[in-house]
Amino acid sequence: MFRTLFLMFAGLVLCTSQAMADPLKISVIGAGKVGGTLGTLWVKAGHSVMFSSRHPEALTDLVKAAGPNAQAGSVSDAAAWGDVIVLSVPYGAMPVLSEQLKGKLDGKVVFSTSNPISGRDGEVGLKALNMGVALADQQYLPGIHLVRAFNAIGYASMKDQSGQGKAIPTFADDTQARDLGARLVRDAGFIPVLVPLARANEGLPGGPLSGVMSEAELKHRLGL
Ligand SMILES: NC(=O)c1ccc[n+]([C@@H]2O[C@H](COP(=O)([O-])OP(=O)(O)OC[C@H]3O[C@@H](n4cnc5c(N)ncnc54)[C@H](OP(=O)(O)O)[C@@H]3O)[C@@H](O)[C@H]2O)c1
Repeated sequence: MFRTLFLMFAGLVLCTSQAMADPLKISVIGAGKVGGTLGTLWVKAGHSVMFSSRHPEALTDLVKAAGPNAQAGSVSDAAAWGDVIVLSVPYGAMPVLSEQLKGKLDGKVVFSTSNPISGRDGEVGLKALNMGVALADQQYLPGIHLVRAFNAIGYASMKDQSGQGKAIPTFADDTQARDLGARLVRDAGFIPVLVPLARANEGLPGGPLSGVMSEAELKHRLGL
C-alpha cells in the first residue's frame, strides 16, 4: 500500500517536473467537456493553455478553475498561439474550421479528440468514417502533423486520476506528432501506446480499441 502510494507520488512529481522544465503552449479549439477537461489537466501539469471558443467571454469560469497559466482567446488567436493545437469539436464543424484555419496550422502538431458520429455529424461524419478519420482530418487540415488520442474514453474518466496506469491508443505516423502526442497523453496522467494512423477508426467510440483499459489489455487488443 505504502509502496503503491509512493510510486504514484513519484510518478506525479516526475510528470510535473518534466512539464515545468520545458512547458508547452497548448491551444485548445473546442473548450467543451473534453477540451476543458484535458486543458485543465495540462495546466495542472505545468503547461500554459489557451482555451478558445467562438464566444471566448463565456470561458471565464473554466480559465479561473484551470489556474494562472490558463487564458481564453478566439479560435484564430488559438491557432496562432499554440506550439500544439488540440482540436476537440463535433466533427460536423470540420468543414467550417477547414476554411477558417486554412494555412494557419501548417507544420503544427494537431492533437484531435474529434470523432465523426453519423447520427450527430450527418454527411460529414459518414464521409469521414468511410474514408478513414485520419485521412479525413488531413484533408480538412492539410500540412498538419496529426495525432489522435482520447477518442473513446469518456471525459469523466479523463478527470478521474485513479485512472493512473490506464493506457490510451495514440494514433500518429510522423516523429513530431508521435513525440508530442505521447507527451500530452502522459502529462494528462495516462500511458500512451503508439498506433499507426491507418488504424485510427479502431479507436473510435464502440471500436475494438475503445474504453478504459490497462497497457497490457490495449497491447493485447492491438496484437502486440
Ligand atoms: N464527451 C466525451 O466524453 C468524449 C470523449 C471522447 C471524445 N469525444 C469527442 O470529442 C469532441 C468534443 O466532444 P465534447 O463532448 O467535448 O463536446 P462539447 O462539450 O459539445 O464541446 C465541443 C466544443 O466544440 C466547439 N465548437 C463547435 N463548433 C465549432 C466551430 N465551428 N468552431 C470552433 N469551435 C466549435 C464548441 O465551442 P463554442 O460553442 O464555445 O465555440 C464546444 O465547446 C467530439 O468530437 C466528441 O465526439 C467526446
